[in-house]
Amino acid sequence: MRPTLDRLNGLLRRLPTWPVWLLGAVPLAILVARTLAGDLGPDPVKALEHELGLWGLRFLIASLAVTPLVWAGLRLLKFRRALGVTGFAYVALHFLVWLALDMGLRWPQIAGDLVKRPYILVGFTAFVLLIPLALTSTNAAIRRLGPLRWRRLHRLAWPAILLGALHFVMIGKVWTWDSLAYLALTLGLLALRLLPGRGAQGKSA
Ligand code: HEM
Repeated sequence: MRPTLDRLNGLLRRLPTWPVWLLGAVPLAILVARTLAGDLGPDPVKALEHELGLWGLRFLIASLAVTPLVWAGLRLLKFRRALGVTGFAYVALHFLVWLALDMGLRWPQIAGDLVKRPYILVGFTAFVLLIPLALTSTNAAIRRLGPLRWRRLHRLAWPAILLGALHFVMIGKVWTWDSLAYLALTLGLLALRLLPGRGAQGKSA
């Protein structure tokens, strides 16, 4: 097991981060191509909203999985920023599609939805929590804040991703297996941080 892990870590060390950024752009490129080809079904706006929300959640959960995998011996830390920022970018696009294409920038209706629909409020809160993390995802911001304050701030990712997963569960009138699976995965990855000597007490986020 150890030699395989060492070989894999050797490979990961040599791998630059740009392929992860590139890979992150693939679902978006496919979505743009499907939009241009008119291949998004009878309700293209809803389809766009759903796909962008789902990819956002997938990348955010992937970023949450990095630290437990590091504990398991896989050196993936250098890819975490790309996964988190990509997740944020998809969620931001998801939000913009809702704002501009779904709600047509009708502000009173937007404000009404935020108040009346709990799942919108939960999603919005998750998005707002992610904004400072995206803004401080550069090396300059880490230097400015110092590693300790930066790490503390970036623990906002935990409630943000949990709220994102909850938002997904809350959407339907009935709970769906896939939304529950995303929530269970998120809860599992967060629970690992509570293990003695790990996340909440330890150094890594
Ligand atoms: C971290 C933040 C967020 C995440 C991870 C997220 C994720 C998701 C996911 C996974 C879906 C379901 C996709 C599907 O049906 O397959 C969804 C749907 C949706 N989200 Fe979000 N979302 C977030 C924030 C937001 C925000 C800020 C808004 C608007 C204020 C929003 C509005 C919606 C709407 C309107 C739907 C479609 C509901 C329907 O089916 O009618 N989301 N989101």
